[in-house]
Amino acid sequence: MNTEGVHSGFCQKFLLLEVQYHVRKCETKIISTVNMCLQSLQAEKGLDINMTREKKVLLEIKNLKKYFPIKQNLLKAVDDVSFSLYENETLGLVGESGCGKTTLGRTVMKLYEPTEGKIIFNGTDIAGLKNKQLAPYRKDMHMIFQDPYASLNPRMNVSEIIMEAMENDRDIPKAARRDRVLELLKMVGLNSDHANRFPHEFSGGQRQRVGIARSLAANPKFIVCDEPISALDVSIQAQVVNLLKELQEELNLTYLFIAHDLSMVQYISDRVGVMYLGKLVELTTSEELYEKPLHPYTTALISTIPFPDPEIEEKKERILLEGEIPSPINPPSGCAFRTRCRKVTEKCAMECPSLQEVQPGHYVACHQYGTAK
Ligand SMILES: Nc1ncnc2c1ncn2[C@@H]1O[C@H](COP(=O)(O)OP(=O)(O)OP(=O)(O)O)[C@@H](O)[C@H]1O
Ligand code: SF4
Ligand SMILES: [Mg+2]
Repeated sequence: MNTEGVHSGFCQKFLLLEVQYHVRKCETKIISTVNMCLQSLQAEKGLDINMTREKKVLLEIKNLKKYFPIKQNLLKAVDDVSFSLYENETLGLVGESGCGKTTLGRTVMKLYEPTEGKIIFNGTDIAGLKNKQLAPYRKDMHMIFQDPYASLNPRMNVSEIIMEAMENDRDIPKAARRDRVLELLKMVGLNSDHANRFPHEFSGGQRQRVGIARSLAANPKFIVCDEPISALDVSIQAQVVNLLKELQEELNLTYLFIAHDLSMVQYISDRVGVMYLGKLVELTTSEELYEKPLHPYTTALISTIPFPDPEIEEKKERILLEGEIPSPINPPSGCAFRTRCRKVTEKCAMECPSLQEVQPGHYVACHQYGTAK
């Protein structure tokens, strides 16, 4: 294996993400300074300048559960998860393998029937809706999968794959649908020559672009991106993430972005949720989570992100998580993280902490920051 190539690819990606992160922080500071100036102008001169746009909730998840029956037991893959997603927002979702990220994404999309809870999409609870009633909402919600090769039908060409996703536009003439395919291909950085090719004729990054074009075919409002870049070469991961960001701005999309790569999640997300053993244990803005994580599990996860400055990197405390993630069939009593937590107390074995707002907009499920309900 060419480790030098992999190493330099990783460094390039890391440097790029670091630059992008600082640009984003500067942008945020400039916007908040401009807003402050405008607000003081508004107060002083009585000008009607409304820069604080009301955020609209697109999706509200309430006490969502997805349990899988396994022999005589129940595997609690998603266990009492609640959060809201605002229009045009990206909510990142992180956590170790098996913590329930994909199951949560699939349950929200109604690809799995929820065991309990509400999925309020654009004001309607779709949790209990069946096929016909669900159809009008299905076109507004799509999913981009981790493995673009496995998720594309190898016997269809790109044009057929994308047209199949326009199932609600069957009454539109075929020529117009064909034009739409070409428009979508252009949007994701492919061209008309690609329309007649089959999935095996593309590189991994191009295949994921086809997957993105397919997910946009029905003009969705909301997309679950389930590890859309982890199967891609590091050199093209940033390209695909930037494409998703551009499309979000252009088409006013809302994303639930599932990923392992914490630095990538930080870059793309407005807010980030951390999952552990089927539960959401922390939720706050991307900046706050990475600069001031509160939950002991998040603190450990963040401490493993390499820092580009070697001096800071050398001094930084790295918290190693010991032990395996327990089985979701038989989770520990009380706080599920207690078997690996450095701050565990007696109370942690007896009471399960609920997710509480401990600072404005910062939610944590830990007894260190409040009492369980
Ligand atoms: N269809 C299923 N039937 C039974 N158990 C399942 C099913 N799908 C997932 N699980 C179990 O649910 C738990 C959560 O799995 P899930 O795939 O949601 O995790 P994940 O966080 O997406 O992991 P990864 O990061 O590896 O993708 C795991 O213990 C998994 O074995
Ligand atoms: S509730 Fe207790 S075990 Fe759980 S994270 Fe907080 S301190 Fe650790
Ligand atoms: Mg997964």
